[in-house]
Amino acid sequence: SSPDSYKLSGTTYSKDTYSNIPSSILDKLDRNLHLLPSHPISILRQIVEDHFSSYTPLVPSSAVVSVHQNFDELGFPPDHPGRSLTDSYYLNRDYMLRTHTSAHEVESYKKGLNRWLLSADVYRRDEIDSSHYPVFHQMEGTHIWDNSELHNLPALNAELEKKLEECNILIEDETVISPSNPYQAHHDPIHAEQITRHLKHSLNSLIFRLFGHHASQKGAEPLKVRWIEAYFPFTTPSYEVEVYWNGQWLELLGCGVVMQKTLDLSDVPKKSGWAFGLGLERLSMVLFSIPDIRLFWTSDPRFLDQFKQGEITTFQPYSKYPPCYKDMSFWLPPSSSVIEEHGAAAAGGRLPVEGGVREKAKAFHENDYCEIVRDVAGDLIESVTLIDEFTHPKTNRKSKCYRLNYRHMDRNLSNEEVNELQDQVQRRVVEEMGIEMR
Ligand code: PHE
Repeated sequence: SSPDSYKLSGTTYSKDTYSNIPSSILDKLDRNLHLLPSHPISILRQIVEDHFSSYTPLVPSSAVVSVHQNFDELGFPPDHPGRSLTDSYYLNRDYMLRTHTSAHEVESYKKGLNRWLLSADVYRRDEIDSSHYPVFHQMEGTHIWDNSELHNLPALNAELEKKLEECNILIEDETVISPSNPYQAHHDPIHAEQITRHLKHSLNSLIFRLFGHHASQKGAEPLKVRWIEAYFPFTTPSYEVEVYWNGQWLELLGCGVVMQKTLDLSDVPKKSGWAFGLGLERLSMVLFSIPDIRLFWTSDPRFLDQFKQGEITTFQPYSKYPPCYKDMSFWLPPSSSVIEEHGAAAAGGRLPVEGGVREKAKAFHENDYCEIVRDVAGDLIESVTLIDEFTHPKTNRKSKCYRLNYRHMDRNLSNEEVNELQDQVQRRVVEEMGIEMR
């Protein structure tokens, strides 16, 4: 890649005002953790593929998709926040790194398959803590039927409900069809209800497969799973499934009945069905007891050698080296204090519009800050937390103080090393974000 273009697997993408991908992210493009046979991410992929054994597994060729594929085709409105430069990675105004595996729905339906699974790395700009990383892995799964088959969906396995009870998993589902989560107007409600039931049954049975062993351990608290109403532009009704883990509800997947528009666009207008998108990191952290999302990226054999294909085992932490934190206080650029005060929601680095491109994107955004921290410190940064905010009573200028917590996964970090990283971060944020150290 050069200053004015990205070169990725033989294709050149010329840069423009949208381009915002640092090299630390580009480096991740060919890691393919989900394809390393005995990596936890891949172990789960294989178990899910095994569970849905009649579904065709697909692997897309590149993480680069068109903005059209990632958003437009799926009905995302033009002002959807996911499109903003602070949330997504753009090669240029037309191409981006996929933010979800749903970006491949249309091309996959076009292959004429009724049942498929698709696994891939996905990219989102985000905050920094133990469960967020700008690259993660998702699995998309879908089942569609010819409309003529819908009156006669395969009988659901009544034994599942019994099994779920016996193995100590409590599945809470109080979702209802309502104006906020309706069936599609042109779907026969009887068919839509059958698809929804088949969807819930299929995913509950996957949950049983994944958590059954864990939850049936003697004396264990029942595992709580809940279905809640959700919203996605490309499904309705839509749901999320969460699991109660270490005192909080964790989102495992999103799903729903596929929007008929998507299927029309995929040249299969006479079919309907369901789709889900499952986050593999979250699920692995829970099932293998992996405490920090950065561990997935380590090449330390003390991590990698612990896992075996086909097996869900408990991670044995091999050490926890001491953290080292440094605080950083700075004044925001004057313009962004003003923008924040006026509460202009669209100012914070949203999608640039024709004409007024970069000026507006200057407002301080935490994701931009975190991006620089990651670019400098790589996997040595564990968390970035806002610990103080202050507005000067006379000048009205805003300041923020962040605590940067550094920790090496495999060895001790020296204070000098950390100071050096902290200095580099400071230099870069001053240069690139127009902020002023206090
Ligand atoms: N793509 C959605 C996400 O990443 C998940 C999803 C997939 C929802 C398929 C519905 C259907 O959040």
